[in-house]
Amino acid sequence: MENQIQRIGVLTSGGDAPGMNAAVRAVVRTALDCRVECVGIRRGWNGLINSDFVPLDTTSVSHIIDKGGTILYTARSEEFMTEAGRDKALATCRLLGLDGIVAIGGDGTFRGALALSRQAADRGYRLQVVGIPATIDNDIGCSHYTIGFDTACNTAVECIDKLRDTMQSHERCSVVEVMGRHAGHLALYVGLGVGATAVLIPEREVDFQRDIVEKIRQARLAGTTHYMVVVAEGAGSAADIGRRIHEELGLDPRVTVLGHIQRGGSPSARDRETASRMGYEAVMALVSGKGNRVIGTQDGRIVDLDMEEALQMKKPFPMDRYQILEALTLSGSHRL
Ligand code: F6P
Repeated sequence: MENQIQRIGVLTSGGDAPGMNAAVRAVVRTALDCRVECVGIRRGWNGLINSDFVPLDTTSVSHIIDKGGTILYTARSEEFMTEAGRDKALATCRLLGLDGIVAIGGDGTFRGALALSRQAADRGYRLQVVGIPATIDNDIGCSHYTIGFDTACNTAVECIDKLRDTMQSHERCSVVEVMGRHAGHLALYVGLGVGATAVLIPEREVDFQRDIVEKIRQARLAGTTHYMVVVAEGAGSAADIGRRIHEELGLDPRVTVLGHIQRGGSPSARDRETASRMGYEAVMALVSGKGNRVIGTQDGRIVDLDMEEALQMKKPFPMDRYQILEALTLSGSHRL
């Protein structure tokens, strides 16, 4: 099919994630390769509302593949959730002559993209949108993997390894809070990666006796003299959990909240590679006349899905990893 697309916009929206820049680079370079012009929309959907944009050429995206954050800035936009806000955004799209938009972010970003595309159609304007999943939470239903997750896991593991050194010397208990307001993927992968004594996740109701007291008791039986408890922020506050551990077990835990440090840093090889493939496929979808798509991964393969269907999809939580964590961390206790 002949390419009908002449100019596209690219934006990043919602919480940033390492690898967003690699995705922007891939979108711009693929577009140019297909003789499609590319405009960077800055500060998420607010950039369309406020006509905040920047033309992008091949050198604009040089030397960003290794950079964390996003050169396009990011934001969450209240105004874009309103019809009037989206009409302002559409006025900018018309002004710029955009035929398509690649939106890099999470579920909220995709919902916004779909609403914009539908409103454009209602106004007789054909605007195709494609979403690329990027969030350190890895909680987007339609994609096995989201850009930024691997880097965030590595950052948290690196920090916890350092904590472990001092916890081990002092024979202490450490409670570490990792990000994940609604999802425990990060906590679980990190917990597996550091051999945590216990991991608390929002997907499983916390039973303090079963999930903490018993785990520490078993670890003690197995001969451990330091304990590492990893808590997803959505499962409870590390400070509260530390206090309860002190009250109920008489330990003197040290509490660390890793916070936004997990969202920064140079993207890992996996995030750069995935972002490059997704950015490429997003533009190829637009160029081949497809709109309202989300580019995702399934078992490592890149897939493109209908955006409305993608937004309905649910990702099963990998509870098998929780069992593996328990088996590996506490196996010594059975010997006693
Ligand atoms: O990017 C997702 C996330 O990391 C959540 O896990 C966390 O709760 C949230 O972002 C916090 O983001 P912000 O401080 O930007 O609102």
